[in-house]
Amino acid sequence: MQNKVKIFKNPGELAKDAALNFKSLTKVKKSGNFNVLLSGGNTPVLLFEYIREHLLKEFKWEHIHFFWGDERCVPSDHPDSNYGNANTILLKYLDIPTSSIHPIIGETHPYLEADRYSKIIHDHFEEKENVPVFDLVFLGLGADGHVASLFPGQDMIFHSNRLFEVTIHPETGQNRITATSKLINQATNIYFLVAGEKKAFVLNRIINKVKGFEKYPASGIIPVNGKLTWFVDKAAATYL
Ligand code: 6PG
Repeated sequence: MQNKVKIFKNPGELAKDAALNFKSLTKVKKSGNFNVLLSGGNTPVLLFEYIREHLLKEFKWEHIHFFWGDERCVPSDHPDSNYGNANTILLKYLDIPTSSIHPIIGETHPYLEADRYSKIIHDHFEEKENVPVFDLVFLGLGADGHVASLFPGQDMIFHSNRLFEVTIHPETGQNRITATSKLINQATNIYFLVAGEKKAFVLNRIINKVKGFEKYPASGIIPVNGKLTWFVDKAAATYL
């Protein structure tokens, strides 16, 4: 299935459209929980803010479960915490049971937590053998082509048979816990949110499959049965 690329004049318009599409997906799902895997970093901040400011009453939060595609191995009150930031900006404003929010615990032993979190997800989906299928996975794109916390040159981890692995950020040395492509690629919908000039070079190489594009982990995000949509602002789309 051909990936869809949507280009917006600015990050705010990108975030608004991604939020409205998220809302639509939750409405389309007629039964059961809607399970979403959130990404971290800065780009989702505008998405969370838009939902908080405009769509708080538009979602049936009681049917939505939040998980994370990656987490920095820091306490939840640390400024780097993906869960901490999502909670501060959005989740604490939602009328949602705490049992519907499933953070990765950044301050525990990374390898034990990667195992624990994989089990949490298997149990939630009541899937022991098959790979759980998220309704929606949000992803960002690093300027080096990383996705979640799957960094270039870590192919064994990218192709791991486990749902979550431990990685180390190549520049900061920070331990990360990350979903693998095995989990991400099973999703029904994958939304890449990419904003800013810094991402333009790598985005073009991935989207247009420029020679050597395979070295970028984000190029390995290929939905097995689902749909992938790129939400991109004009700055990041400079070379498209
Ligand atoms: C993280 C993210 C990571 C992020 C990209 C883009 O935990 O940092 O999951 O994959 O999406 O690094 O980050 P920005 O949105 O800050 O550019």
